[in-house]
Formats: sequence, C-alpha cells, structure tokens
Amino acid sequence: MLKTAVVGVRGVGGGHFRALASHPRSELVAVADLDTAAARRLVDEQDHGSAPTVFASLDEMLDGSPGLEAVIIATPHHLHAPMSLAALEAGLHVYVEKPIAIRISDADRIVEAALQRQQVLAVGHQYRTYPGNARLKQLIEADEIGSVQRIVWQWLDTRPESYYDRDPWRSSWAHAGGGVLLNQASHDIDLLCWLFGPPAEVSATLMNRGHRHEVEDTALATVRFASGALASLQFSTWDRCLNYRQIAGDLGSIVWQDERDANVPDRPEVFRLGRYPSSLTEIITDANAAATGRPVPVWEDVQCEQSPQTSLLDSFIDAALDGGEPITTGHSARVTTELICAIILAGVQREVVSLPLDRDAFDEVFDNLSHGKKTV
Ligand SMILES: NC(=O)c1ccc[n+]([C@@H]2O[C@H](COP(=O)([O-])OP(=O)(O)OC[C@H]3O[C@@H](n4cnc5c(N)ncnc54)[C@H](O)[C@@H]3O)[C@@H](O)[C@H]2O)c1
Repeated sequence: MLKTAVVGVRGVGGGHFRALASHPRSELVAVADLDTAAARRLVDEQDHGSAPTVFASLDEMLDGSPGLEAVIIATPHHLHAPMSLAALEAGLHVYVEKPIAIRISDADRIVEAALQRQQVLAVGHQYRTYPGNARLKQLIEADEIGSVQRIVWQWLDTRPESYYDRDPWRSSWAHAGGGVLLNQASHDIDLLCWLFGPPAEVSATLMNRGHRHEVEDTALATVRFASGALASLQFSTWDRCLNYRQIAGDLGSIVWQDERDANVPDRPEVFRLGRYPSSLTEIITDANAAATGRPVPVWEDVQCEQSPQTSLLDSFIDAALDGGEPITTGHSARVTTELICAIILAGVQREVVSLPLDRDAFDEVFDNLSHGKKTV
C-alpha cells in the first residue's frame, strides 16, 4: 500500500481524494486545503478505513505526516511549482495536476528534482488514456495514414464570466499563467505533442475577445513539428462547443468532428478514416498523372469503444510501488508546457519562436504580463 495525500480538494482534487480513498493500493492518510471545512466534509463522506488527517497547508502536512509517500497536487496553477518542489524535496512521489508549471524554467526544476531523487513524477494529462485518443495514436503509429503532413486542431467552447467570478485565480497571468491555453487547451496541446512529437517552431496570435479578465480567451497558432508536420491550431472559450481534428498523412486522413465534447472518457467516440488508393507523394510526383489528378479516399467510421484500461492514477501508484513510469511523465508534460509557453511568447511578441524555448526570454515576457506591463 502507498501512503497518499491530496492538496487542494474543491474541484478535481475532490475526485482524486475519493479515488485514493477507495484505491486498493493506496492508504489515504492526509489531506490539505486552505478551506479545511471543505476537506473535513470529504473526510466525513468516507465510511470505511481510518480517516485521513486534515491540514491547512502543504507545509503543515509534510511536517505532520510521517511515513507519507506520495501526494496529488490539485491547487491553482501558480502553486504547482513551489508545491511540487517542496513535496519532492520531502521525499514524496508527486502527481501534479496539469500544467506541470506556468513557466518552462519551473518545469525544468521540477523534472530535474524528480530525476535527481529518483522519485515518480506524474502530470494530470489523462486524456492520453481516453479510447478515441488511444486509437488515434495506434493508427498513426501503425502508419495507417502514412507520414503526417498537416494537422487542423480546434477546441472551442464557452466560459461565461461567472466561471471566472467563481474562481478568480483563473483570470490572472500571475495565478493562472494564461487563459484558454493553459487551462483548457493544455489537454489538446498535450495530445498534439504526444501524437506528433516535439515541436520546432511556432507563430501565434492571442486575443481576449471580450472577457473581463486579463488572460487570453482565444489563441491561434501555427506549429511546425520536428517531424516536418505542420499544424494549425484554434482554441477559444469565446465560441460554441466544437472539437474538430483533421490529421492529413501521405496515405490518408483522419477527420474527427464532435459538437459535444471530444474527450469524455465514458462515451464511445467515432471518427472518420479515409485512405487514398496510392500515396500522395506518388500521385504528385507521377509525371503521367492528369494535371489536376485528385486522390479519392475510401472512408470508414472508426469506432472507439470504452475499454478497461490503466488510468493515469493507477499508473502513478504502480510506478511508485513497483518502479517504472506513469503514463504522463514530468518529462513529457514539460514538452507540452514548452509548446504552450512558446505560443504565449510568439503571440505576445508577435514573432516566430524556435524551440527549445529561450527560458530567459519567456520569463521576461511572463514577468511583464503578470505585472500588467504587457497585454494580449
Ligand atoms: N486533469 C483534468 O482534467 C483537470 C480538471 C480540472 C482541473 N484540473 C487542474 O486541477 C487544478 C485545480 O483546479 P480546480 O478546478 O480543482 O480548482 P479549484 O479552484 O476548484 O480548487 C483548488 C483548491 O485548492 C485549494 N487551495 C488553494 N490554495 C491553496 C494552498 N495554498 N494550500 C492548500 N490548498 C489550496 C483551494 O482551497 C481549492 O480547494 C488546476 O491545475 C486545474 O488546471 C485538471
């Protein structure tokens, strides 16, 4: 059994609390939240096992929980770096919610600290485990659409002002580190890096189309991946719900349109797969092809049924107890955060940004954003 704890329980942390309280390989021994009454309510819900001790802060919990082995951090974004570093320093395995940090330089420190101490570091990008996304990865890796050339990827939805009024930390650069990019689209950006590998170059436009807060609610970016694939990305919380993904390869295309939510783990997903009779390269380089030759794909529906699979939490606990790696490692989550930071830098500076990202350049721009000296 792994002795576990959760910090931050109002939102997603409440789910982590319940999952750890009932997990066959976890003994939930502590919970910390500024709102100790909320933490106590969760503890009171539990009707079996010994009750976890409630603390008002991570520091008190680290001092008062001898034998604690692992912690899930589910607090606002700006606390991820200091809390992850403190917990790693105290010898704990860490599962930190997404994003790993709001500055890439902090992500570097966290990844390095876990590596130095050989502790498990998982980051809450769990969309990789969802059936549709797992099927996408499988098809791409099996070369079903050939080498990926071009990607269109949109995540659009509506977040009314009441969402930011309820959770004011989501509104500011200093606390949220960004708007739609870090808060919502970080899942999609994680999928993009997981599916297509490391990004190499980014240009972007950021806007706040009308929310009262300072962070961006709309981001458009063009990304060149190291593989050569080109992606056109649109993310917004000033829109209607529409997830659209088009992945175009040399041998075929995948088209996925969903007007509800493309990432609900317990619902079957369907997307379209079209295969060309021969590769685009052959068609385009064939000197005898008609001057306007067009490959006609043969389309099929790909059903992605829910199937029991290891959750990110299971993989974290297994790695802490048995060795190995969680599904989303700190290292891979850092690639995602680096792309997000690159999009912010490119959008704010209105310049093309190359990766690896210049950490100092990002820190300078981020300091200016969080002190109101720059805006989007
Ligand atoms: N992986 C996912 O699908 C997913 C879903 C939702 C949220 N998240 C992430 O989880 C994190 C939390 O989001 P949320 O929606 O649950 O936020 P929230 O505001 O609802 O909850 C944050 C909790 O942290 C507590 N807290 C704040 N400062 C604290 C401190 N110094 N010490 C102890 N506790 C403190 C608050 O009291 C609150 O209970 C964010 O990083 C968010 O991006 C991830």
